[in-house]
Amino acid sequence: MGSRELGLPMPVAAPEPASLPAEVTIWEVGARDGLQNEKEIVPLEVKLEFLRRLADAGLVVLEATSFVHPKWVPQLADATELIAELDPAPGARYPVLVPNERGLDRALEAQVRDIAIFASATETFAQRNLNSDLDGQFGMFEPVVSRAVGEGIAVRGYLSMCFGDPWEGPVPVEQVVAAGKRLLEMGCFQLSLGDTIGVATPGHVEALLRAFVAAGVGVDRLAVHFHDTYGQALANTHTALRHGVSTVDSSAGGLGGCPYAKSATGNLATEDLVWMLEGLGIAHGVNLESLVDTSRWMAEKLGRPSPSAVVKALG
Ligand code: HMG
Ligand code: MG
Repeated sequence: MGSRELGLPMPVAAPEPASLPAEVTIWEVGARDGLQNEKEIVPLEVKLEFLRRLADAGLVVLEATSFVHPKWVPQLADATELIAELDPAPGARYPVLVPNERGLDRALEAQVRDIAIFASATETFAQRNLNSDLDGQFGMFEPVVSRAVGEGIAVRGYLSMCFGDPWEGPVPVEQVVAAGKRLLEMGCFQLSLGDTIGVATPGHVEALLRAFVAAGVGVDRLAVHFHDTYGQALANTHTALRHGVSTVDSSAGGLGGCPYAKSATGNLATEDLVWMLEGLGIAHGVNLESLVDTSRWMAEKLGRPSPSAVVKALG
């Protein structure tokens, strides 16, 4: 079947090919960020089937769940069962979120080998999301990272509220860089810059990336995590790609949101990302048709249509 019949865009070289990466790693967060905010508990079999279908569609990094306090995120209270019943696809990684040593103990018992910690760039969100103050969160994460790295486990660092905070307003770039550097210095192999409430715009993304580079952090250690509240996620991603970022977080069908961040909506939809990468001629490894089928299937399970523009257009 040709690319037209599959509904893929025609790759057209940009007038200035400049610095776009040849390949992008999509960090699929649909099963974690995508589902964590769902009020109705999604059955374990549906979550497992979702992960299986996403891997079948070619995604190789699939954030699977969180070992957080089950009362804080009831939707992911089945983390241990999910990991036990997961049938990993060959070559795929299934990272999980871990906030503290209790979470790490649970993840290690479940034989997890790939984790992410998640910090806040702002005081208010540290308190609301982690029940800790801004400085205290690093004390919570340090033993998690040192124990995990000591066991040969890769630890990703997330940093939330990098562009704006619903309680504090705009977040100074220097504050974000300082918090992000602490996570990298702690031993995280990568830092994912979170626009938790989707307020970033491309100039702000460029300013933040330049500030990290000026502070000695190479773009090869940075990933981007955009929520799409104001419809800017794809433009922001394009800006990040042009500055050399090659790991992009997204969620199938645009599911998502954080229960502790007022006004957070879904992540950048993986389909919208794939459409753009395809058009730019950037390798991504995903079969768009099966991904769209998966998101439509999941939308039926959740009882509402996917917000992704590409799912709507191809569905
Ligand atoms: P806490 O209540 O302060 O915990 O919560 P604590 O340390 O005081 O412990 C209280 C009890 O909870 C103890 O039990 C602990 O054992 C237990 P007790 O002795 O009373 O019987 N406990 C746990 N049980 C299971 N698993 C654990 C755990 N930890 C303690 N891991 C805590 C502090 C950090 C645990 C809590 O605030 C929490 O779970 N927060 C998670 C919130 C969350 O998951 N938010 C969404 C993810 S972040 C996000 O979406 C943003 C991101 O997408 C990027 C972006 O968009 O910007 C990543
Ligand atoms: Mg998020």
